[in-house]
Parts: sequence; structure tokens; C-alpha cells
Amino acid sequence: SWTPDAFVDMTVSELKEKIGDDKVVLGLSGGVDSTVAAVLLHKAIGKNLYCIFVNNGLLRKNEFQDVLDQYEHMGLNVKGVDASARFLDALAGESDPERKRKIIGNAFIEVFDDEAHLVQDVKWLAQGTIYPDVIESVSATGGPSATIKSHHNVGGLPDFMKLKIVEPLRMLFKDEVRRVGKSMAIGEERLGRHPFPGPGLAIRILGDITPEKVSILQEVDHIFIQGLRDWGLYDKVWQAGAMLLPVNSVGVMGDERTYEKCVALRAVESTDGMTADWVNLPYEFLQKTSNDIINKVPGVNRVVYDISSKPPATIEWE
Ligand code: XMP
Repeated sequence: SWTPDAFVDMTVSELKEKIGDDKVVLGLSGGVDSTVAAVLLHKAIGKNLYCIFVNNGLLRKNEFQDVLDQYEHMGLNVKGVDASARFLDALAGESDPERKRKIIGNAFIEVFDDEAHLVQDVKWLAQGTIYPDVIESVSATGGPSATIKSHHNVGGLPDFMKLKIVEPLRMLFKDEVRRVGKSMAIGEERLGRHPFPGPGLAIRILGDITPEKVSILQEVDHIFIQGLRDWGLYDKVWQAGAMLLPVNSVGVMGDERTYEKCVALRAVESTDGMTADWVNLPYEFLQKTSNDIINKVPGVNRVVYDISSKPPATIEWE
């Protein structure tokens, strides 16, 4: 029968055999799949695995540095590339969610291609593709493969896509990937992480994206997520995040009327993201979180909680 330890042993020896002394590039996202794929490959080929972790400027507060530190701590040969300005410049003025996704996907491909070119003589591209990605070849949610496909249609294949592909997780389901990660001693902070969309906060800021809006939303999200952790609620929720709405609403400050931003908090239970129910978070938690956000984040004067299920209300507001 299948066990994670046996899978690791078998896969590591297959990878050694297949790759030999070749060099491999892999894009880390901070998520479970790319992390587990990287650690497996690292066991097999060590420093010949070149990991690239791109900051698109749309990650959670402190996420880039924290996760980069964790990767280094795991012994991975990883390069952190801060391309925030490039992504945010490319997004300036764009409000359409599908165009935002496309801009982010294209910027990622350009940055990754530049980095892959810096690895002399690289032969392989490793990906954290898992079985559900394989069967659902056209991803409804537009993950990395969909981005690459849409780029391919417009601009021809980037060089890194001409590399030989290695996908050590392509026969595994998500829970098996987690078990494999656990058997290789990857920490709970990676394996237990909520899903986070590739386009990041860009699809949680409705309308156009500015660096100021990103930093407001990072602060709000940080208070919400840290609160879930502190209250022991994080693991009871499948995914949570905050949305920055494109309207201002009135508030009072002393004798003054202010028109400031409104944020929506969303926390859902789900198994695969295809359907989802909103989570009945304790009123005391919502009350504390709302007060903290309004007191600590300048520019926000109203917090609402999303009590809509999917369908029809998607998890991301876009
Ligand atoms: P929706 O909003 O469609 O989200 O209910 C379902 C799940 O998919 C994630 N999601 C994305 N993930 N690129 C991604 O990598 C995307 O463009 C994207 N859009 C949504 C979302 O976070 C949720 O887990």
C-alpha cells in the first residue's frame, strides 16, 4: 500500500536516475505543492536545483521575507527576486480582473524567464503539478499553467518552457502531497497554509491597483489572519482574506465627516474551492477584529463580513 515514506524513497531515486548531473529550475510560490516538489528534488539533486521565488508585490504583509527565510532554513538553493515595482507598474490604471490576471501572468513569465537564463546550462523545468491539475487540463481558476497557455497564444513560447519538464507530484492528490511534505519534515506553517491565489491581492482590490491600496489591504489582511491564529480559528477555516472595495463611505471623526474605505472580510469552509460556505466566526472575534482594523489602519472606516455562499458568490471578489 501507498505510504509517504515509500513514495519519497522511490521518487528520490527515480529523480536521481532521470536528472543525473543536470540543472533544474523551479518557481516557488510559498504554497504547499511547489514547496513539496522542491524539497523532493533537493533531496535528489541538492544544489543543482535552482529555486526562484518572485515577489510580485501582491503577497501578504511580510510574506516574501518570511517565506524566503523558511526556504533558506530548509537548505534550498533559492533566489528571492523582488519584482514588486515591475508588477505594480504594469498594473497601473487597470481595473478589469481578467486583464489584471493576464498582466500578472505575463510579468511573472518575463521575470522567471530572465532568472532561468541566469542558470548556465539548465536542462529541466520542475513544477509542482498535482493530479487534479493534470486531469483538469484547462484550469477553471487560472493557475500558472493557464497563465502560460494564454501567454503562449499571444507571444510564443518563452525559453524556460522549452526545457524538459519534471513533475514529481503529478500522481498525487492534495492530501497525499501534505503527507509527503510531513514525512520530509516540512513545517506546518507551509503545509497548513490556506490557499492563496497566484494573482494575490490584485484580485482582492476591486478596481485599479496602487501601492497605497496594496499596503492598506496588507495591513487589514494581517490583522484578520493573525487574529484567526491567535483565536485558534485559522485551522477551522479553509481560506480567509480581506477585500478592498472601490467605494468610500461616510464616517464621523469628532465634528468632521470623513469619506474613507470599506473592507470586506471573507472566511470560507470548502474542500476544493468549487463550492464554499461562509464560516460562522464568533461575534466577539469579529467585533475585536473590526475595532483593530478601524483603529490601526488609516484610511479604513468600515468593515463588513461576507455572509454569501458559493455558488453564486465566488470566494474572491475580483
Ligand atoms: P473563486 O473566487 O473562483 O476561487 O471562488 C476559488 C479558489 O481559486 C482561487 N483563485 C485563484 N487561484 N489564480 C489562482 O491561482 C487565480 O486567478 C485565482 N482566482 C481564484 C481562490 O483563491 C480560491 O481558493
